[in-house]
Amino acid sequence: MANKSLFLSLLILAISPLCFSEKSQGGNLYPQFYDHSCPKLEDIVWSVLAKVVAKEPRMAASLLRLHFHDCFVKGCDGGVLLDSSGSIVSEKRSNPNRNSARGFEVIDEIKAAVEKACPETVSCADILALTARDSTLLVGGPNWEVPLGRRDSLDASLSGSNYNIPAPNNTFQTILTKFKLKGLDLVDLVALSGSHTIGDARCTSFRQRLYNQSGNGQPDKTLNPAMAAVLRNRCPRSGGDQNLFNLDHVTPFKFDNSYYKNLLANKGLLSSDEILVSQNADSMKLVKQYAENNHLFFQHFTQSMVKMGNIAPLTGSRGEIRRVCRRVNH
Ligand code: HEM
Ligand SMILES: *[C@@H]1O[C@H](CO)[C@@H](O)[C@H](O)[C@H]1NC(C)=O
Ligand SMILES: *[C@@H]1O[C@H](CO)[C@@H](O)[C@H](O)[C@H]1NC(C)=O
Repeated sequence: MANKSLFLSLLILAISPLCFSEKSQGGNLYPQFYDHSCPKLEDIVWSVLAKVVAKEPRMAASLLRLHFHDCFVKGCDGGVLLDSSGSIVSEKRSNPNRNSARGFEVIDEIKAAVEKACPETVSCADILALTARDSTLLVGGPNWEVPLGRRDSLDASLSGSNYNIPAPNNTFQTILTKFKLKGLDLVDLVALSGSHTIGDARCTSFRQRLYNQSGNGQPDKTLNPAMAAVLRNRCPRSGGDQNLFNLDHVTPFKFDNSYYKNLLANKGLLSSDEILVSQNADSMKLVKQYAENNHLFFQHFTQSMVKMGNIAPLTGSRGEIRRVCRRVNH
């Protein structure tokens, strides 16, 4: 009998890591986590951010993206915020982040204000999650409750940043696989891509579409020719790599469903946007639904943001609460 229960315990211990894939580890997070330890937290984040976004609306987009680039690399653990130092090689150098990830100074400013009110209490990972929500809300998007209680990583992963974050010229299948590896599904992919209703992309992120999409010297046939001609003006064959273009050229500073309407008109900017309507019937169907029904888009988007925010958080005594988001404590 004793042997049998010992065997069972061992068996459970052995298989439990398999049950907790990345997607299910957010269960420990909850919105009230700082209610007693830092009751002013959400007010502080909101007030700093409101001021910043009023001055520079694009910052809302940049900060929303930072949370994504944090969560897809070893979970939402503030890893993306670390600068290089000692054995740490910063994710800021990765292909998806180099010359493009921004907003780190804003996170520093929010963290400093939070530290003043509640020293050594609130993680940088949670500040990123709250900032992503408030950024969305400040530019007209939906509201949602943000589960909290993440802790900060002790290291970064440059290779994780390069491999796990989808590239704009990845195939539909590759991008979906990268989402599935994080416990996210097709609905999450289509809904979260709706983030591209705000913000900018550099010429270098979509130039391939304008000149040589599939190696045959031809532009991407799925891109509206008039729009392609306009884009080529400021995105030449060579040079102008850093020139910026609105991801949603219709309402670039408003969080709405016009991104999906653009896709249906062959006016998505990135190849990774366009493939949502050309490579998969289920994905195409969702794009149509969101284009017709902003409410449904908002509903799916908020659910998917919570799912993304739940990817593999550090909780309990794992990780630490960083004092400064750019470096580990000791
Ligand atoms: C589905 C796969 C995705 C791909 C391939 C992708 C790729 C990109 C690329 C290439 C840019 C432009 C970067 C530049 O040239 O500077 C960009 C911008 C952006 N992405 Fe994504 N992205 C994806 C999903 C997401 C998700 C899930 C979110 C948020 C939840 C997001 C939020 C944003 C935002 C807000 C911007 C504008 C940033 C700014 O203006 O600073 N993206 N993305
Ligand atoms: C995607 O873009 C990268 C960087 O510009 C390039 O090296 C790679 O060859 C492209 N991949 C495809 C399949 O076109
Ligand atoms: C297009 O790309 C292919 C391979 O990626 C290359 O061999 C070819 O020279 C390019 N053509 C033009 C016109 O740039």
